[in-house]
Amino acid sequence: MSLLTLAQKRHSPRAFNGTPLAWDDLANGFEAARLSSSSYNNQPWRFVVALRGEAGFDALLATANSSNHTWMKDAGAIVGVMSSKILQKTGEKDHAAMLGVGMAVGAMELAFVESGLASMQAGGFDRKAFVELLQLPDHIAPLSLLAIGRLPDGQGPTAKDRMAMADIAFKVGDKIR
Ligand SMILES: Cc1cc2nc3c(=O)[nH]c(=O)nc-3n(C[C@H](O)[C@H](O)[C@H](O)COP(=O)(O)O)c2cc1C
Repeated sequence: MSLLTLAQKRHSPRAFNGTPLAWDDLANGFEAARLSSSSYNNQPWRFVVALRGEAGFDALLATANSSNHTWMKDAGAIVGVMSSKILQKTGEKDHAAMLGVGMAVGAMELAFVESGLASMQAGGFDRKAFVELLQLPDHIAPLSLLAIGRLPDGQGPTAKDRMAMADIAFKVGDKIR
C-alpha cells in the first residue's frame, strides 16, 4: 500500500471487536515509531504497552474518560503515549519533544493500518491517575492513550472531514489564518 493509501485508510473507529492482540501484531508499528526522526535525535517518545487480558490493560483503561471508555474497552491493546521533556545529552528542555512524539505515533498508526489493524488516540483521560499508576518522573509527560484493535464486521474508514488545501498551505506574503 502506498503511504497516501495508508493515510486515507487510517481513521479513528471508536469501535473495536474485542479480539486480543499479541506483541507480534504490534511490532511493525513500534518499529516504525522507533525509526522516526526527532530533534537532536533525542527520541522523546515513551510507550507503555498493555495487551487485552493483562492487568495493565484494565489499569490504563480505567484512566480513560467515560466517553472514551465506552469504545476503548473493546480494544486489543492500549498504549500509553508519553514524552520525555528533556534532551537526554544535556538535560535542557526539548522544545520539539511533542512534535517528535507526534511524528512517531503518526508513523506507528500508518504501520498498524498496513498490518490490518485500526487504532485511535484519545487525549481524554485522567493524566493525574496515569502519572500515579506509572509512577512517572517529572520529566515524563503523559500525552494520550492509543487504542489498537480489529474492527467490528462491516466497519471501515469513514469520510474525512478536513480543511481545504488552501486553508493550510500558504505562500510567503499570504495572510496566514
Ligand atoms: C492526539 C489526539 C487525541 C484525540 N483524542 C480523542 C478523544 O479523547 N476522544 C475522541 O473521541 N477522539 C479523539 N481523537 C480523535 C479525533 O477526533 C480524530 O482523529 C479526528 O476527528 C479526525 O478523524 P480521523 O482520525 O478518523 O481521521 C484524538 C485524536 C488525536 C490525534
